[in-house]
Amino acid sequence: MPQTWIGRAGMALSIVLLLAALGMAGWWYVSQPGDRLQAVGGSGHVPIGGPFELVDQSGRTVTETVLEGRYALIYFGFTYCPDICPTALWEMSQALDMLAEQAPEKAERVTPVFITVDPERDDVAAMKQYASHFHPRLLALTGTPEQIADVAREYRVYYRKVEDASATTYLMDHSGFIYLMGPDGDFLKSFTHQTKPEEMLAELQARVQG
Ligand code: NI
Repeated sequence: MPQTWIGRAGMALSIVLLLAALGMAGWWYVSQPGDRLQAVGGSGHVPIGGPFELVDQSGRTVTETVLEGRYALIYFGFTYCPDICPTALWEMSQALDMLAEQAPEKAERVTPVFITVDPERDDVAAMKQYASHFHPRLLALTGTPEQIADVAREYRVYYRKVEDASATTYLMDHSGFIYLMGPDGDFLKSFTHQTKPEEMLAELQARVQG
């Protein structure tokens, strides 16, 4: 029967189109890591970030309240990191410097934050020395291993000690996202050390309310 044949062909075609649409949706979903995280929460509240108690490079106790009402660029790393951490921190500093030239009122609302995942070696003095190489307003935070574990868990940051070949030292394997957090502590967007400062600048220009 022709009609049945056409009906079956139509059904098959519909299924193919539906699968193609699902495939495209799936591709879009996995290719947008930052926005995907945002989409999960629906309301914009996603499970990234939360309260913390740490110590800054002046030895001052700092909690999440220091970021209330402010935007933050937050990066987790360690001062012995040979390349990725300095690149990420340089990129944050560059983007903020450029923003300060273009829109100083926006730049003033953004706090750059560096949190160590290596509290064993990154004490207050080490953090102070290291932070001085980057942005003048960089908030460099360390803490007890438990405090670091807590804040890393809240920010979904993975880290693990790995022995170096020399065996006299060690490195930290760690995830390398730079998080842009909003004034309510909401996660807005993530970057990596491969993001160009100009790209980060464009996102800051678009997202930060001066
Ligand atoms: Ni690193």
